Amino acid sequence: MNNKNYLLPGLVIIFSFGMIIFSTVLLPNFIFKPMPSEFAVVYTPLEARGRKIYLREGCVNCHSQFSRPQDRDFGPLVMAGDYVYETPNLLGTIRTGPDLANEGGKHPDAWHKAHFINPRTVTPGSIMPPYSYLKDDEMKALVAYVQSLGKKRLVKYHRIYHPDELEKVLEKRKVNVDSSAAANAGRGIFQQNCATCHGTHGLGNGPNAIAISKKPANFSRPFFKDYDDVTWFWRVSEGVPGTRMPQWGKLLTEEQRWYLVAFLKTLPRENEVYPKDYESLDPEKWNEVQATSSKDLNSQKPAMIIETKGSPPGAGGGH
Ligand code: HEC
Ligand code: HEC
Repeated sequence: MNNKNYLLPGLVIIFSFGMIIFSTVLLPNFIFKPMPSEFAVVYTPLEARGRKIYLREGCVNCHSQFSRPQDRDFGPLVMAGDYVYETPNLLGTIRTGPDLANEGGKHPDAWHKAHFINPRTVTPGSIMPPYSYLKDDEMKALVAYVQSLGKKRLVKYHRIYHPDELEKVLEKRKVNVDSSAAANAGRGIFQQNCATCHGTHGLGNGPNAIAISKKPANFSRPFFKDYDDVTWFWRVSEGVPGTRMPQWGKLLTEEQRWYLVAFLKTLPRENEVYPKDYESLDPEKWNEVQATSSKDLNSQKPAMIIETKGSPPGAGGGH
């Protein structure tokens, strides 16, 4: 066999390889210069710090940050111009967890904090690792960063309230959400509309819950204590984008939704062991809190039977 037979195919292969590199790597580098879009985020120092923690903790190994036309449930689409201020970009390639491009404003801060401390308190069976070892200020920065992701997009497409809208909603409120009459009215509305998913006691175990992959919220989770009236109202009205939770703002009157808020506020929260200031995760302090609150528990009868018991933050071993 003559070696010359391999010369031409060899050259063709090398040439094709060169063309591929040229057209996918070199060419775009020179001609692709997107303008900043209206959603491009310039991070505040706190958010920028959270972004560094996101990188350090390897969140990018499980979460992507882009929503494509074929992605259902991940919210409004992204454009190249949204990322012009991001170096290095954190687009990611793997979706072990959900895409986070539109995460900002989707959940309240208290939700994220509880989720980072122990993901299973808010998402039963989650495989996301706990980040309870993060320092106080690191946790704050990380939450701020996650809340900044795509928030402008969601406000624009009315997936979440604009802060100014919230003020107006509060001014117009006619229901006293702290009265037991309002809570009773809310109970009826809840049993009719919400119990099929959230369960009659709000434990997230209604008959429909079995068929839903993203489970309905369990309102006995301790972090719900930190929800204020507006946060409740907003969650009920706008639903949770990307889940089966409906936008009740389109189905119930404003008054009915305030009654629901009054009811949701009265639901008992699971074992009160959760320290009130769980922002401070100093292990010594934690032991103190646990010692005192377990005493409280012994002297108290539970208000209702709780079927599921989540582990308190930081108490789970293994990390
Ligand atoms: C091992 C893979 C893995 C890693 C690492 C990981 N996550 Fe997750 N994450 C998941 C999975 C799976 C879910 C879905 C279940 C849940 O809600 O906990 C999730 C859910 C989330 C959600 C909630 C999304 C929603 O709206 O329901 C946020 C926010 C989040 N992760 C942020 C982070 C951040 C920030 C980090 C790094 C500190 C991180 N994740 C690290 C796998 C991971
Ligand atoms: C079709 C099932 C379904 C129905 C009906 C439903 N929900 Fe939900 N709800 C969900 C799911 C799923 C979630 C998302 C949980 C999460 O964020 O992981 C949710 C979340 C919520 C949250 C947000 C909790 C959080 O973590 O911030 C509130 C508040 C809520 N629901 C209230 C209601 C109320 C009030 C009603 C009745 C008017 C109702 N839901 C009816 C499925 C449902």
